[in-house]
Amino acid sequence: MPGLSAYVGFFELCSPKKGESVYISTAAGGVGQLVGQFAKLLGCYVVGSAGSQEKVELLKNKFGFDEAFNYKEEADLDAALKRYFPEGIDIYFENVGGKMLDAVLLNMKSCGRIAACGMSSQYNLEQHEGIHNLMNLILKQVRMEGFLVSSYYHLYPKFLETVLPHIKQGKITYVEDIVEGLENAPAALVGLFSGHNVGKRVIVVSRE
Ligand SMILES: NC(=O)c1ccc[n+]([C@@H]2O[C@H](COP(=O)([O-])OP(=O)(O)OC[C@H]3O[C@@H](n4cnc5c(N)ncnc54)[C@H](OP(=O)(O)O)[C@@H]3O)[C@@H](O)[C@H]2O)c1
Repeated sequence: MPGLSAYVGFFELCSPKKGESVYISTAAGGVGQLVGQFAKLLGCYVVGSAGSQEKVELLKNKFGFDEAFNYKEEADLDAALKRYFPEGIDIYFENVGGKMLDAVLLNMKSCGRIAACGMSSQYNLEQHEGIHNLMNLILKQVRMEGFLVSSYYHLYPKFLETVLPHIKQGKITYVEDIVEGLENAPAALVGLFSGHNVGKRVIVVSRE
């Protein structure tokens, strides 16, 4: 599911082109790590953000992102994005929402595309944060589109056709965060909301 989500959001919704600038939030998660690798294979400039230095290193050294930063250490997200995208962002793969989305809207290029995949920062709030910079969608003619991967299962064969040769050639890699035992599943789930996972969190119910 994370792989197909990455494929659909990036290729189907964003129509990426070689040389474009791509920004991914929650980039070390199950979805983001694949979006970044797809974008690099296409020849894009790719920057990801994540919530720890360990994840930042992973993005740069294992997944081959051009740049990565720890958003928790940035007092001003707008300034951080301007540092990595002085000419603006062509494609934003949205996994976080909230303040990050607001800052991204200020930094999109004309005719940019945003794939809204997730909004992790908003899931546990009683009242969702407001977004102030939506007018940029109009002024910059940016297209923002949400999606549910369940509406794209028919693309699963196409996704496998694209991704399997790259995996076999070692051009795409994947990090999973394995938790052993169903009894540990509740804590593992809660841990997702504090960024405890590095890569896609998977519960191993039994190895027999
Ligand atoms: N549209 C769809 O059909 C579809 C399909 C699959 C997934 N999704 C969504 O896509 C997003 C990415 O999925 P995934 O499997 O790659 O995610 P994931 O790795 O399971 O996401 C967990 C990560 O989210 C970040 N996070 C958690 N709470 C946060 C908060 N309050 N503020 C900012 N970041 C927070 C943390 O990363 P950091 O340490 O980097 O902060 C955490 O490690 C999720 O929002 C998921 O719900 C949507």
